[in-house]
Amino acid sequence: MKLLVINGPNLNMLGTREPAIYGTQTYADLERYIQDCCAQAGTEVELYQSNHEGDIVTKIQQAYGVFDGIILNPAAYTHTSIAILDALKSVGIPTVEVHLSDIYQREAFRHISYAGQACVKSIMGLGFEGYKQAVEFLVALGCVW
Ligand code: DQA
Repeated sequence: MKLLVINGPNLNMLGTREPAIYGTQTYADLERYIQDCCAQAGTEVELYQSNHEGDIVTKIQQAYGVFDGIILNPAAYTHTSIAILDALKSVGIPTVEVHLSDIYQREAFRHISYAGQACVKSIMGLGFEGYKQAVEFLVALGCVW
C-alpha cells in the first residue's frame, strides 16, 4: 500500500508559526513522525508540502493510479479551495482530511471545509496524532478498497 501525505501552505513554518495553536515541533519533526507511523503500519509513503494551490491540485491529479490513499491537510485552502475539492473528486482516491487544530473551535471563517466534502474521514484537534490515526484508518480501509 502506498500513501501520499499532502500538507498545504504555512505548514512548513511549524515550530515558528503560532506555537500556542500549532505547537513547537517543526515540519521536519512532522515528516519524521509520519514516516515512523507508516513504517510501523507497514505502508509506503510519500510526503509533499506546497504553499501553492495549483501545485496541490496537480499533485492530487498525479496521484491517480499511483497511490492507494491520500492524507491531506489543505491548511488555509481548506476554507477556500473548490479546485482542491474538484481534484479530489476527479481522482476518487480515498482521502482523509487532517487538521492539527480543531477548526470548529476557531474563527467562523474556518468552520467550512471544502476539501472535507470529498474525504472519507476528517480528523482534527489532535496535533501530530491526527496523521497517525489517518494512516491507521487508510491502512484498514485498504483491505476492502
Ligand atoms: C490547519 C487549520 C487551518 O484553518 C489553517 O489555515 C492552517 C492549519 C490545521 O492544521 O489546524 O494553516 O489546517
